Amino acid sequence: MIFPEDFVWGAATASYQIEGAVKEDGRGQSIWDTFCHTPGNVADGDNGDVACDHYHRYRDDIGLMRELRLGAYRFSVAWPRIQPDGEGPINLRGLAFYDRLVDELLAAKISPYVTLYHWDLPQALEDRGGWTNRDTAYRFADYAQAVHDKLGDRVSDWTTLNEPWVAAFLGYGNGVHAPGRRDPAAAMRSAHHLMLGHGLAARRLREAGARSIMLVVNSAPVLTPAQVNDPAAVPSEADAAATRRIHALLTRQFLDPAVYGTYPEEVLAAAGRNGGTDHIQDGDLELINVPIDLIGINYYNPCVVESGPGLPADAAWPGSEDVKFAAVDAPTTAMGWPIVPDGLSRLLVRLSEDYPRVGLMVTENGAAFDDVVEGGRVHDDDRVAYLDGHLREVHRAIEAGADLRGYLVWSLLDNFEWAEGYRRRFGIVHVDYATQTRVPKDSALWYRDVIGRNGL
Ligand code: FCB
Repeated sequence: MIFPEDFVWGAATASYQIEGAVKEDGRGQSIWDTFCHTPGNVADGDNGDVACDHYHRYRDDIGLMRELRLGAYRFSVAWPRIQPDGEGPINLRGLAFYDRLVDELLAAKISPYVTLYHWDLPQALEDRGGWTNRDTAYRFADYAQAVHDKLGDRVSDWTTLNEPWVAAFLGYGNGVHAPGRRDPAAAMRSAHHLMLGHGLAARRLREAGARSIMLVVNSAPVLTPAQVNDPAAVPSEADAAATRRIHALLTRQFLDPAVYGTYPEEVLAAAGRNGGTDHIQDGDLELINVPIDLIGINYYNPCVVESGPGLPADAAWPGSEDVKFAAVDAPTTAMGWPIVPDGLSRLLVRLSEDYPRVGLMVTENGAAFDDVVEGGRVHDDDRVAYLDGHLREVHRAIEAGADLRGYLVWSLLDNFEWAEGYRRRFGIVHVDYATQTRVPKDSALWYRDVIGRNGL
């Protein structure tokens, strides 16, 4: 199974999950610092104060990437390092870190894929309403411009947002993520303002000459239980409506305005029942509808739903109180997420049909398992099987005609897994947090060989 010649192979991380050094070189506070240091929010009371200490160890980490033959590395920039208060003067010492990182990557012949927002909003902006405040979108565009001004001569691949659904609906809807607010109306507003920020930033990047602009979503095929095992299964009209509603909230809410300048009626209805639609001002959809080059897809598992009383009003799915999330008959990862590899090919083919003019990239895919180090090795056969199964589906989607440009594994390193803290290990490289020792797991060595032969 050989992949296209210019297929991009890489790995992904995010600033707050790996960097540590939260008080260094003038970095301001982010909503994740605040959230972690509020008892009860994160498993085991964990926080990102030290994480993988990547801020100090980035050179060695890039050495590892080179040994694994990665062609691309997707990382995010911490906004509070660049603008400690979320606006105003640029903190040059913070920006210098990413400058060094990019130079070191290029020296190792690894393409940098820069994500501008992977959830670490400056706390100062949250104090003024965070993403519920329209002004945050404009502040984001300024920040994006500042980062591009410094790195744009060497970085050609830019991502505005990572997973705006998670930022809005887990951050402001059910409160599982920072800033921990529980208000469906705030979540709907935030989702729109994130998209406005995406559009404003994308326009600035485009004007500044960025070669490739990407929006990354946590997408999933939304299926009824019967459709999981039988793609041809025909759902009842009520179940089909449930899948359409959730697909609209999860995926179309972000990709439709970006690609077509429209919101699905299901999204407008959900907003209408949760605070109204006044925050969507005339002209906003035109601002959001800036041409993008790539849609980035973070896929872990399908979303399985049926109609029926289910979700409490304050959950992450406003306006979907008549939708029930169903269990899947499949093995699970340590996150409890069902392993359904063909969900990825079904998703990629669907998105390539719905957004045919935009290229696709798998920007995250991977799994947490309870890894153990034995005699200096980690025999993570379960992760190898997960990655192998999903890469076969990636290949299948390409054969079916999807314009898929690359695959980035989540994650390079074990890291701070948000509300789950350090107990969930997603890395292909094991991290001993007490000593910061890195040990490439068997999956890393397997992945290196896959990259080496450009296939399975
Ligand atoms: C995604 C996030 C990423 C990581 C994985 C497991 O939702 O983008 O940071 O936590 O899930």
